[in-house]
Amino acid sequence: MNRKMVFDIPEEIIHILDILNKNGFSAYIVGGCVRDILLGQTPKDWDITTDAKPEDVKRFFPRVFETGINHGTVTAVINDTNYEITTFRTSTYEETSTLTEDLSLRDFTINAIAYHPQEGIIDPFSGISDLEKSTIRAVGNPHDRFEEDPLRMLRAVRFSSTLGFKIDDSVLSSIKENCSKIEKVSVERIRDELSKILTSDRPEEFVTLRETGLLKHILPEFDICFDITQNHPYHIYNVAMHTLRTVSSIEKNTALRWTMLLHDTGKAVTKTTDNKGIDHFYGHQKKSMDIAKRVLERYKFDNATTQKILILIKYHDMRINPDNKSVRKAVSKMGEDIFPDLLKVQKADKSGQNPEYFDEGTAILNKIQEIYLDIKKNNQCLTIKDLAINGDDLLAMGFEQGRDMGVVLKMLLNAVLENPELNTKEKLMELADDLENSFYK
Ligand code: CTP
Repeated sequence: MNRKMVFDIPEEIIHILDILNKNGFSAYIVGGCVRDILLGQTPKDWDITTDAKPEDVKRFFPRVFETGINHGTVTAVINDTNYEITTFRTSTYEETSTLTEDLSLRDFTINAIAYHPQEGIIDPFSGISDLEKSTIRAVGNPHDRFEEDPLRMLRAVRFSSTLGFKIDDSVLSSIKENCSKIEKVSVERIRDELSKILTSDRPEEFVTLRETGLLKHILPEFDICFDITQNHPYHIYNVAMHTLRTVSSIEKNTALRWTMLLHDTGKAVTKTTDNKGIDHFYGHQKKSMDIAKRVLERYKFDNATTQKILILIKYHDMRINPDNKSVRKAVSKMGEDIFPDLLKVQKADKSGQNPEYFDEGTAILNKIQEIYLDIKKNNQCLTIKDLAINGDDLLAMGFEQGRDMGVVLKMLLNAVLENPELNTKEKLMELADDLENSFYK
């Protein structure tokens, strides 16, 4: 790689570097953005490192606010975009540091490369060579780096899953030794790394989390799934390997991927073996939902995401027959907004099972999808509010407000789900009349 190569960097960055240079300071772009450019990718954000102190930086830019003053970071706003400017890292409490010292305190060599438009690439830890070898190697001694911030152990696995890089053996063995220290890290930071691994091209890197020992400290509920075998005609993998195949099969959406990750965790606590040696997991759906609730609360997921994941897990095994009536009932039970996701979950689940049954199972799910689209196209009634009769009509007929009214509306909806032709005011009033006689006789 040509160390004098010219990077295509935004004008605002050049402007920031220029201002700092003109005022006698040195400044470089550094970290993820340099790594991404060298990999031919577009950086998500730009980090600048400088020997200027935050109070100096604040003098040079009209719009600056403190975002991580403890770490020496201020954010300059230029043309409505934020640029993080951080004073060189230092390992001691000394006043000054150098670029090399700053780079020596970063996690991995591929993240410890700096660039300046005039000076070119500065790479004292051979990050470029590791980029070329697709290797994640610590800057210096991995123990020291993990001691400074144990989250870096999880970041190693994350970069391996997002970039498809190999983790160097020295890093792997240091993670094995230090894995319990991950418990000191905040749940939000762990959650975000796990979500990045899950939504990457290689969620199977969870196997590395298992092998290094990290998994039992952050997700013991999933860790034990590696020990749960499934002797059943539908299954050829243990619960964890089945699960990871289903994660890879569903689209890269955070909620859907967490759903797949947790959907069978209840199997670890429900396994029984019958006298023919076949394993069963009766009631695992409900148990998985309880376990998922605990995990999602622990990781402080927002309510909407949690509720969505829990419903999908609860119904992930719901048997739906490929006929209109059965699909209407399933959509009504799940809610229209979430039913298409349930089909995605059920399809993904099939791809983690015995391939012998894959085509048959998928064909049924495709048929269900077709029926669902047809029901939508024809605006068929799926909820109480779609009924051709409402509460006022029932009041006028003599029903009492409250629980009875709710029960009657539910019964009418069930009748309409069975037979959509009943959804006229006249027919529903007739039906309600029959019900009234049986209610108040
Ligand atoms: N860094 C570090 N240790 C951490 C986090 C970050 O040494 N625990 C350093 C690395 O040099 C990293 C830079 O800070 O490249 C920026 O961190 P961050 O934005 O969190 O990650 P990126 O490497 O930029 O990767 P991405 O943007 O893909 O998350």
